[in-house]
This record gives sequence, C-alpha cells and structure tokens, in this order.
Amino acid sequence: MVKVTILGAHGQIAQIVEKFVLADDEMDTTLFLRNASRLDKLSNQATIYEGDAADSDQVEKAAKGADIVYANLAGDNIKLQAQAVVEALHNDHVKRLIWISSLGIYDEVPGKFGEWNKSYLGSYLTNYAEAAKVIEDSDLDYTIVRPAWLTNKNEVDYEKTKKNEAFKGTEVSRKSVAAYVYHLLKNPQEDVRESIGLNKPNTDGDKPSWM
Ligand SMILES: NC(=O)c1ccc[n+]([C@@H]2O[C@H](COP(=O)([O-])OP(=O)(O)OC[C@H]3O[C@@H](n4cnc5c(N)ncnc54)[C@H](OP(=O)(O)O)[C@@H]3O)[C@@H](O)[C@H]2O)c1
Repeated sequence: MVKVTILGAHGQIAQIVEKFVLADDEMDTTLFLRNASRLDKLSNQATIYEGDAADSDQVEKAAKGADIVYANLAGDNIKLQAQAVVEALHNDHVKRLIWISSLGIYDEVPGKFGEWNKSYLGSYLTNYAEAAKVIEDSDLDYTIVRPAWLTNKNEVDYEKTKKNEAFKGTEVSRKSVAAYVYHLLKNPQEDVRESIGLNKPNTDGDKPSWM
C-alpha cells in the first residue's frame, strides 16, 4: 500500500488525480484542503484534513506517515506555502514530493511566446520561481512539474522537457498533467530531483491558441 497525501485537494488537476488514486486499491489517500465540506462525497474513501498549506503544523498532520506528498497549490503566497511544506515534510521524515509549478519560472520559454508569457504572467512567475527554489534548495526527493497553459480537453497527450532544455509548445490538458502525476505516484523512482516541463506536442505558437 502506498500512502499518498494530496495538498490543495480541491484544485482542478488534483481532482482528476483523485479519481485515479481513489480507484486504485494499492493507494491509501489523504486529502488536505481548505473548506473540507466541499469533498463530502469522497469522505469515506479518503482521510481528510482541513487546513492552510501556509501553516506547517497543519501540513505536518496531513503528511505524517505518507510515502509521497503531491502538492497542487496556488496563490500569491506560494513561496510561504513551499516553505511550510518543506518544513512539514522534514519534521515528518517524508522525502518524496511532487510540486506543481508553471512554465516560465526559469525564463526557459523561447521566442515570442516566452516574451508574451513573461509579460502576461508578471509577478505570478516571480512568486512561482521563488517557491520552486525553496523546493530545489531542500533535501527532498522532489519532482517539480511545469505545465504549459492548461486546458480542460479530455485527452492525455504530453511530452516532457528537462530543466536545462528550452520549453516546448504552448498548452497541455489538466488530464495530461494528472496522468503524469499518477504515473509518478506509481513510479516514484522516476524524475527524482528533476524539474519537468509538460506540453502537448506540436502546439508551438506565439500564444496559446485561444488567447
Ligand atoms: N492556468 C494555467 O494555464 C496554468 C499553467 C501552468 C501552471 N498553472 C498552475 O498549476 C497549478 C495547478 O493548476 P489547477 O488548475 O489545478 O489550479 P487550481 O484549481 O487553482 O488549484 C489550486 C488549489 O490550491 C489551493 N490552495 C491555494 N492556497 C492554498 C492554501 N494556502 N492552503 C491550501 N490550499 C490552497 C486552492 O484551494 P481553494 O480551492 O481552497 O481555493 C486550489 O484548490 C496552479 O498553481 C496553477 O497556477 C496554471
């Protein structure tokens, strides 16, 4: 049995991952979120903790005993949340972390799309870059995931780029990101201490197609 704790369990990607893990008899799932009443339907399939990811004591309770923590968090205080998660996992002796971040945090997106992305996202990117650095400076066995612009297409179609490679494409579906996260939960030895860009192949352009 693999014990998985999902932080930000009401997030859109997290909810897709939850469909996979809750249907998997080999996974024992703990969900951590604000306003836990939103997850009523899942309450008898998972252990549920209500809390704020910027509070390390609250994260520590939800991550205790976990084999892997998957953080699907967001917000202007994302760096604070990263610091709280690192502290909590350290105290819980949990090593493996999957951390959802964003394309562009290393200025790795080439060409016109890279310039547009940087100016459109502004301080969001700086905040996400600082949070990712907190994770990379820790001794955790992390995988940072940098999705392209997210869509709700019902498809799993992605390719990966590594940290020192130019980012490819403009978009990727949330379902694809969820499929990759679930793959990592099943194969936790893969992409350890890596920061992985995820995009749908052949979606290069100056902007996402709908912008
Ligand atoms: N949109 C894009 O094109 C794009 C592209 C690349 C990366 N991303 C990033 O990818 C990540 C995942 O995407 P998504 O669509 O799943 O995002 P999402 O639906 O916004 O999920 C983020 C979750 O983080 C939770 N959260 C925020 N602050 C929290 C806190 N202090 N304590 C506990 N939970 C907290 C939110 O909780 P509540 O439900 O309580 O608000 C929300 O459920 C996000 O960080 C997003 O910015 C987005």
